[in-house]
Amino acid sequence: MKWFYSLAAKFFPTWYERRLPGFASLHRMIEILLAEKMPPDGHVLVLGAGGGMELKALADAQPGWTFDAVDPSADMLELAAETVRPHVDRVRLHYGSIEAAPQAPFDGASLPASLLGFGSALDAGRP
Ligand SMILES: C[S@@+](CC[C@H](N)C(=O)[O-])C[C@H]1O[C@@H](n2cnc3c(N)ncnc32)[C@H](O)[C@@H]1O
Repeated sequence: MKWFYSLAAKFFPTWYERRLPGFASLHRMIEILLAEKMPPDGHVLVLGAGGGMELKALADAQPGWTFDAVDPSADMLELAAETVRPHVDRVRLHYGSIEAAPQAPFDGASLPASLLGFGSALDAGRP
């Protein structure tokens, strides 16, 4: 799985925009759903930081929210760090899977659909 995301990190932003034209809309939908329950100074856990596009979209839209995000791909985390640079004071990135997430209480969490789907299948060695 990590090999895939190491490769993907090189092309991630443009590749995703082309393969998933609704990617930005997905981030907007996540933000709307979280905002229904989250306080203005809420704390969000993002499982699968990826290239940081979701984090940046959420941070752009919600200036009061803070974030912890995990990802087991060092290459993706490097890309995420670059993407979220404008929000560096509100975003903490952690190398690893959910076990790497801090124990802090969170007001909301985001687990992208891609992570549930082909991510888990590949991790399990299935085609
Ligand atoms: C499609 S990307 C996520 C993109 C990001 N959430 C966004 O929307 O901008 C999926 C990410 O999940 C990460 N990932 C895969 N398995 C994971 C796991 N078990 N725990 C946390 N992250 C995982 C991958 O390394 C990859 O960077």
